[in-house]
Amino acid sequence: EQLFVNGDPARGVLACVTCHGEGGNSTIPMNPNLAAMPHEYIAKQLRDFAPQGDKPAVRTGAEGAPSIMTAIAAALTPEDIQNVALYLSHQKMDWDKAATATNEDTTERGQTIWRAGIADRKVPACAACHSANGAGLPAEFPRLAGQHPEYLLEQLKLFRSGDRVNAIMFDIADRMNDKDLAAVADYAAGL
Ligand code: HEM
Ligand code: HEM
Repeated sequence: EQLFVNGDPARGVLACVTCHGEGGNSTIPMNPNLAAMPHEYIAKQLRDFAPQGDKPAVRTGAEGAPSIMTAIAAALTPEDIQNVALYLSHQKMDWDKAATATNEDTTERGQTIWRAGIADRKVPACAACHSANGAGLPAEFPRLAGQHPEYLLEQLKLFRSGDRVNAIMFDIADRMNDKDLAAVADYAAGL
């Protein structure tokens, strides 16, 4: 918790709370809400943001540009990562601050993709891995419920362009058009 709230200025670790909100409940659209995320997922992302030796980071911004998280993650020790991941996974979602769906016109399409996927394009149901209620699953499946739709859509586009490297999510995003990505991002936010 101390690291999350205060950061560690001496090591160049900015206070997480500034961008991710109290207890990880971020209210800023492009800053992900981290409360109640599976700790394995948080830890994996923090490892993925940091370049490993001469290997570039697995997770960057668009076109390989560093993320705001790159320098922060690189300064964290494995113990810091474990501590902050466990801290966040135990924080409660503040549903008053959480994001929600905003586009009624696409709710039905989003719900269909969430529950059943898109059979003729071989897109599996998101619910299978992110759980029916969007809470995520232990191990490395993130919570999407209450996440900002703007952030979700941006990540889906980064998977599709290959800028954010993940084989499973690449195959899924690559088979979807912009309209469907926006519909399912909005629906997932509102779960
Ligand atoms: C993404 C943790 C500090 C801005 C993330 C993610 C994690 C994380 C786990 C990925 C979330 C996901 O995939 O759903 C932390 C921790 C911090 C910290 C533990 C402190 C040690 C900050 C600060 C800022 C920031 C200080 C703003 C200056 C962002 C942004 C993203 C992100 C914008 C989205 C990814 C991107 O745009 O590249 N953070 N964060 N974080 N964080 Fe942080
Ligand atoms: C990550 C959306 C289906 C496995 C993500 C993220 C989004 C997303 C937005 C990034 C979340 C964040 O940064 O916090 C979706 C949607 C789906 C879908 C809309 C349906 C169309 C699936 C399925 C699987 C899966 C079926 C499993 C077979 C994963 C995994 C990650 C992830 C493992 C973490 C990737 C990493 O470590 O960087 N998904 N997902 N997803 N998803 Fe999905």
